[in-house]
Amino acid sequence: MSFDFSARWRSFRHRFLPNRLWARSLLIMVTPVILLQTIGTVVFYDNHWQSVSRRLALGIAAEIKLTIDAYAEIDDPAEKQELMQRLMQTSRFTLRFLPPVDNPPRTKVKPSIRTAELIPALKAVGYPFQAFPMRNDYSLRLMFYTPDTTLEVLLPYKFFFSSTTYVFALWIFGSSLLLTGIAVLFLRNQIRPILRLASAAENFGLGRDVETFKPEGATEVRQAATSFIKMRDRIRRHIEERTRMLAGVSHDLRTPLTRMRLQLSMMGDDENARDLLSDVMEMEHMVNGYLDFARGEGKEQAEPTDIPDLIAKTVDSLRKDGVALSFTANAPLTMNIRRHDFKRCLWNLITNAERYGTVVRVGLNVKEHFAEITVEDNGPGIPAEKRDDVFKAFFRLDESRNTQTGGVGLGLTITRDIVLSHGGKILMGDSALGGLKAVLIFPK
Ligand SMILES: Nc1ncnc2c1ncn2[C@@H]1O[C@H](COP(=O)(O)OP(=O)(O)OP(=O)(O)O)[C@@H](O)[C@H]1O
Ligand SMILES: [Mg+2]
Repeated sequence: MSFDFSARWRSFRHRFLPNRLWARSLLIMVTPVILLQTIGTVVFYDNHWQSVSRRLALGIAAEIKLTIDAYAEIDDPAEKQELMQRLMQTSRFTLRFLPPVDNPPRTKVKPSIRTAELIPALKAVGYPFQAFPMRNDYSLRLMFYTPDTTLEVLLPYKFFFSSTTYVFALWIFGSSLLLTGIAVLFLRNQIRPILRLASAAENFGLGRDVETFKPEGATEVRQAATSFIKMRDRIRRHIEERTRMLAGVSHDLRTPLTRMRLQLSMMGDDENARDLLSDVMEMEHMVNGYLDFARGEGKEQAEPTDIPDLIAKTVDSLRKDGVALSFTANAPLTMNIRRHDFKRCLWNLITNAERYGTVVRVGLNVKEHFAEITVEDNGPGIPAEKRDDVFKAFFRLDESRNTQTGGVGLGLTITRDIVLSHGGKILMGDSALGGLKAVLIFPK
């Protein structure tokens, strides 16, 4: 069995590494620093700090041994007294020479961090001793039991223990914290332009205005943003050109068509003229449809709207003989929409349904995170493999099926554009009524 390193790495990364860019960058920046500081601290403790403490301890032990030895060497009591005075005056410790005890206690000292290096060094002095921490916590009281005196030494901690070590550790910790804080601040600033770019791209995709977007941040991000703006302008130009052309053609056709219709209606009740007139009227209808489509890219503003009310009004305006049209809503709902566009989108779906069916049901289903609008009919429906095609401009199913309808094949194209630009999506399915079920889904 081979070891798939890359798969393991991927699963590790997926499980343990953060997903957000700023968190990742922070990790990349801060991990080496913290690692370095930790290693540095450990090495420092192990080598430098320990050896310094040891040397200090050895020095102190040597001094004490020297004192004891000098004192022991002299026999004459008067000289001993004089030496004692001198030692007490000159030593950097506070010394006291007490009478010797008969049964000196055995050396027994509680180990602590501060005396870790000192106690082993003091054992080398060669006499039993005891160590008591003083109440004031600044010094250690040592008692050495030698045959001719009991020497009391008051030894300040600072002589053998560097308390700045704690300060040092604190500094390391504090500076890491500070560094992380600063890194977070800077990283957030670096990442903000990327987030802005992402949201601008998303908004543009939804057909929203991204006019205020400007390139900012690091060179690479600026580059991406500039490319995005160029792409946006190109797409916009493209759409504008397409729309302008369609509008131009439609507009130019409308005038001669109107003239033709007028002339035909003046030609009297001729069979041929009537056919021709109906054709011309159909063409006019189509041209109006194209114009509508071309005008679609308007600049309507989104407003908070009572959705059930809007649907009910649209449904009412579309009632006609021979079609049972009904509307039900399960809950009230207010959404930010461009009203005219939204109405138009409902209008397209309902008129389609009315064209092919005799029973049409419109429903509003408000769920927890989204709202669903359904339009269903009992017509022939759309075969599953054609459901993608009907959204294409000018696409119509089976021309013979709807000669009397005069549709252009733009209705669903416009509808989908509108739904997408509201951040929603449109799905086609089978209705329980037997025909088509169109479902619009909008996030709440
Ligand atoms: N409810 C429906 N039942 C059956 N077929 C449908 C239904 N709705 C749409 N279609 C089919 O999808 C095609 C495209 O519909 P679309 O609304 O885009 O165009 P249209 O209705 O033909 O023309 P327009 O709406 O532009 O006047 C229609 O021609 C029709 O064949
Ligand atoms: Mg239609």
